[in-house]
Amino acid sequence: MKTVVIASRKGGVGKTTMSAHLGVAAEADDFGPVALIDMDTQESLAKWWNKRLALTPVFSTATLANLKQHLAALKESGVKLTIIDTPPQATETIRAVIAHADLVLIPTRPSSLDLEAVGATIEMAEAEGKRMVFIINGAANRARITGQAAVALSQHGTVAPVTVYQRDALASAMTDGRTAGEIDAKSKASEEVADLWAYVRTQLSKKVGK
Ligand SMILES: Nc1ncnc2c1ncn2[C@@H]1O[C@H](COP(=O)(O)OP(=O)(O)O)[C@@H](O)[C@H]1O
Ligand SMILES: [Mg+2]
Repeated sequence: MKTVVIASRKGGVGKTTMSAHLGVAAEADDFGPVALIDMDTQESLAKWWNKRLALTPVFSTATLANLKQHLAALKESGVKLTIIDTPPQATETIRAVIAHADLVLIPTRPSSLDLEAVGATIEMAEAEGKRMVFIINGAANRARITGQAAVALSQHGTVAPVTVYQRDALASAMTDGRTAGEIDAKSKASEEVADLWAYVRTQLSKKVGK
């Protein structure tokens, strides 16, 4: 089983949106069974999942205290991919969850404030010796800042070659328990998420780090 942790010290960057969309994309790509875990006390991912009619991905409730055993049990039950959504501020929680990651995904909005804030998240992933990939999320069309963000982030690590643009479909999907792809498989948002998942999948098959 692979464990992907979606982390950022900053709120509103798309952690929960990515957790949901990548989980569903992985299932659609036969990479499942996929389990989602929400470690954020705001429970946005749980709320999204509770509105879902589809049976997959499964949702799994864990606490920091039992996360290790919990992941072992998921693996034992045949789950192939677990995606863990994390809170923005709770440093100790984020760090403890990152410790279980095969890959840390760090969504970042392409704004100078968000880029300044990303250092704190990078430090946590580095402290745990984890592989991390930045995802530029919420980009505006033809905005120069997107390219600048990619350059700035690439000084610190790998930037996903797929940018997720600001798409209403992503936001509305989160309010009705579906994904942009489930609402409209031909939408741009759906395409970007599928491309992003395909990239994450290649990253998961690489065997480096601990
Ligand atoms: N690419 C995007 N396009 C449009 N809306 C987005 C996008 N990414 C996130 N959002 C919206 O922005 C808000 C914050 O996203 P969320 O995933 O909850 O961030 P986080 O979990 O990092 O706090 C939500 O309302 C979400 O629907
Ligand atoms: Mg969230």
